[in-house]
Amino acid sequence: MRKKVILITGASGEVGQALIRHLAADGNNQVVSMDLRPLPDDLHGLSHHVVGNLLDNMLLARIVSQYEVDAIYHLAALLSTSSEFTPDVAHQVNVEGTLALLKMATEQSQWRGRSIQFIFPSSIAVYGMPEMEQSKGLYQRVREWEWNQPRTMYGCNKLYCELLGEYFGRHYRQLAAEQPVMVDFRALRFPGLISALTVPSGGTSDYAPEMIHAAAQGKPYACFVREDVRIPFMAMPDAVDSLLQLAHAPREKLTRSVYNVRAFSLTAAEIRDLVVASFPEAEITFVPDVKRQAIVDSWPGDIDDSAAQQDWDWRPNYDAARTFTEYLIPNIAQRYAK
Ligand code: SER
Repeated sequence: MRKKVILITGASGEVGQALIRHLAADGNNQVVSMDLRPLPDDLHGLSHHVVGNLLDNMLLARIVSQYEVDAIYHLAALLSTSSEFTPDVAHQVNVEGTLALLKMATEQSQWRGRSIQFIFPSSIAVYGMPEMEQSKGLYQRVREWEWNQPRTMYGCNKLYCELLGEYFGRHYRQLAAEQPVMVDFRALRFPGLISALTVPSGGTSDYAPEMIHAAAQGKPYACFVREDVRIPFMAMPDAVDSLLQLAHAPREKLTRSVYNVRAFSLTAAEIRDLVVASFPEAEITFVPDVKRQAIVDSWPGDIDDSAAQQDWDWRPNYDAARTFTEYLIPNIAQRYAK
């Protein structure tokens, strides 16, 4: 008999590592993780890890031949800055990879006669605010259906994959005589994520975590956006909680397939001030990179997560102050003291 498992793609990335720790803490969960890279040593033994490419059909076929996949957390993606350097690869990984997994999940759902859950992290990068001055001030908390006009390859990829997920979850082969069993597709639009244990790579909201991790190591940091730029953020424990809460929400409570989630919204200068309050020696300067700045300028200053609050009681546990004092500072200090 095949073992029932939860599959995590992109498992060696920031969210993946945090999610494995969480899921493995419950002895009832069996986790199969996938990534191009091995897992860090401290995660060994917490999942059955497969090193390989999501675009390799044989690999996916091997996984479903060995395991009964109950739920998929599809985290593998090239983030926004990386995707601008290699848009073709971004499209392959972000779109074709998602399509391959959605097809696999649909086949498995049909075969087993019940829906496989497909949890998909999307992003504030799906938004593209109008270019006029002050547009962020004018449109303060953007709702899910507003300003869906991304200006990055990553944002386009995520928005399209949300739509593909909705299609596979609601309308797949809608003209067939008998409706096939659909996947149970659920997506979150994350703000910039900040982890104490890992440093992101290839994102454009990375200035916040980079600033914090540099200060903790006593290294100077030149921030690549202007002091006044504002976007929403969230600490990694809340990101993992939100994924799990959405996964556990009763299907009939969900009025949407895609939900905004956020915890707090800060300017780069406000982040600098919080970092300096904890690390008074921190040397932080602002040397904006015009192109990366333009990407962050196109993202909303904040997003409205009232649908998530209403439908599945979403509440972040970490506001900005708690993120710094209780999560980042103690964990980061421990990390670099090693
Ligand atoms: N953190 C992502 C990025 O910067 C946005 O979701 O690309």
